[in-house]
Amino acid sequence: MSVNLMGKHILGIRELTSEEIYQLIETAITLKRDKQTGRSHELLKGKTLAMIFQKPSLRTRVSFETAMTHLGGHALYLGPDDIKLGKREDIDDIAEVLSRMVDLMMARVFEHVVVEELAKNSKVPVVNGLSDFEHPTQIIGDFMTILEKKKKLEGLKLAYVGDGNNVANSLIFGAPKVGMDIFVASPKNYEPKPEVLEQAKEFAQKAGTIIEITEDPKIAVEGADIVYTDVWTSMGQEAEKEERLKIFKPYQVNMELLKYAKPDAIFMHCLPAHYGEEVTKDVSRSKYSVIFDQAENRLHSIKSILVHIAYK
Ligand code: CP
Ligand code: NVA
Repeated sequence: MSVNLMGKHILGIRELTSEEIYQLIETAITLKRDKQTGRSHELLKGKTLAMIFQKPSLRTRVSFETAMTHLGGHALYLGPDDIKLGKREDIDDIAEVLSRMVDLMMARVFEHVVVEELAKNSKVPVVNGLSDFEHPTQIIGDFMTILEKKKKLEGLKLAYVGDGNNVANSLIFGAPKVGMDIFVASPKNYEPKPEVLEQAKEFAQKAGTIIEITEDPKIAVEGADIVYTDVWTSMGQEAEKEERLKIFKPYQVNMELLKYAKPDAIFMHCLPAHYGEEVTKDVSRSKYSVIFDQAENRLHSIKSILVHIAYK
């Protein structure tokens, strides 16, 4: 392997290099092919992954846990009521204790600083399984899916329509690193934060790619190869739901909006979806939609991440 990620924390796409992202995708594709042809790899035999969840999860939890099973290791689920992260004891103590018992850690947290604090105090690699700032494991699987469908990443146009949230941030950081242009359409005050855009624009300048923010979904989707959306109300923002439903209404991805994209465009959503809100059910079941391949690729890409970062 040309890239060495052993012992590294995966906290965000922001910190990964272009080579690292491509390597993670390449390994994921190999692991997927091997699984389909019945070849198994006990690459994490005898290793244990601690999975800390402050929020619910279907794809991320099942992917991490199944990945460990397929790779000959073991995963330990620590839900909100098990260790009461940040309430029962200090985060640095949790990181220190878990480091002495397990080989890998992943955490789904409300505040990004919590996963940073875990990583800072952990002697084993820590993976961000979603925070309010980034969702890196999602984006590795997403780029893998785009590569499978479009045979390339460079030169494509990705349109993200909706909330400037964690998933949007990771896509914005990642697009320039894989040579993609990204157009984001969000309502005023819900666009990605200036500090995200500032840094991502530096990546884009270096890569010669475009990052464009607009309030008009049609401008973003015009000629796009990929149309991506996510929920309008992320986990932890439930109190804002009613207000958000009103503000985001013009940002729904429906068949009408998809007419502006390339005829062979793909539709992506990290899921869970709130049908009738950010996307219509017919779009999710249309010829454009790759949402279930995208969901499956979470498993293969998470396997790749774990294999690369685990100490041998
Ligand atoms: N996309 C994703 O992370 O799904 P879950 O919240 O179900 O893990
Ligand atoms: N933005 C969503 C993503 C869920 C996978 C959330 O944070 O709830």
